[in-house]
Amino acid sequence: MRGLFVTGTDTGIGKTTICTGLIWFLRNQEIDVGVMKPFAAAEKGFSSNYRSEDTYRLALAAGSKSTDKQINPFFYKVPASPLVASKITHQKLPRLKNVVRQVLDESKKYRYMIIEGIGGIMVPISRTYTIAEFARYLGFPIVIVASAKLGSLNHILLTLEACFNHHLDVIAIVINRMPKRSEKSQRLLVSTVRQLTGIRTTFSIPEFHREPDPTSVGSILNGKWHILDALQP
Ligand SMILES: Nc1ncnc2c1ncn2[C@@H]1O[C@H](COP(=O)(O)OP(=O)(O)OP(=O)(O)O)[C@@H](O)[C@H]1O
Ligand SMILES: [Mg+2]
Repeated sequence: MRGLFVTGTDTGIGKTTICTGLIWFLRNQEIDVGVMKPFAAAEKGFSSNYRSEDTYRLALAAGSKSTDKQINPFFYKVPASPLVASKITHQKLPRLKNVVRQVLDESKKYRYMIIEGIGGIMVPISRTYTIAEFARYLGFPIVIVASAKLGSLNHILLTLEACFNHHLDVIAIVINRMPKRSEKSQRLLVSTVRQLTGIRTTFSIPEFHREPDPTSVGSILNGKWHILDALQP
């Protein structure tokens, strides 16, 4: 089973956007790609077919025939971590092995999986495990999506430390929404992250003027991420 687990330094950082670019890239190579957003949370359901907007965006990009429940087995009607949301909604907390089994079952149907986390790497799913432990069980390499804001370097290093502590294999850091007219400190972010972390596959994605579509993001990823060549099974 092959795939990537996409996490971020924060919520709303661009995980789904980067996932759709990766999906575009894989489909462009005629690779059969599956998608999952195992945990999602929102104030209300998105549409009659998809409870979460992320599930819709991922499914649309992938041309997925899987059902909403297959792509997103756990949905919470409160915008919070699954642990906190379930305290409010009184939903049962999913057992780690149960979630992993559902992801692996779905993954069997495809050549390649793109899996989006929820929030950041230390988001608690229950009292006993976080996204980091879940990602460790799945065993897919990790992509970290970050921003170019003041404070991003700290968030990137904290996320990486959590990944290393959980023995996760971080293969790329994507600094999303780099402004066209960036400050010098923003322009130095990529090289500084590479220098401090040794992760060569660190690059930026520009701030788009409109809602970024999978093709625009995917084309940029294709040009920047030589490792994408290695993703072809
Ligand atoms: N490079 C970009 N340029 C312009 N807008 C962007 C860019 N990347 C993401 N966005 C916008 O920022 C918003 C948040 O992005 P996205 O939904 O991908 O984040 P996320 O990390 O998946 O959020 P969540 O934590 O809710 O899953 C979206 O409206 C998206 O269109
Ligand atoms: Mg998302």
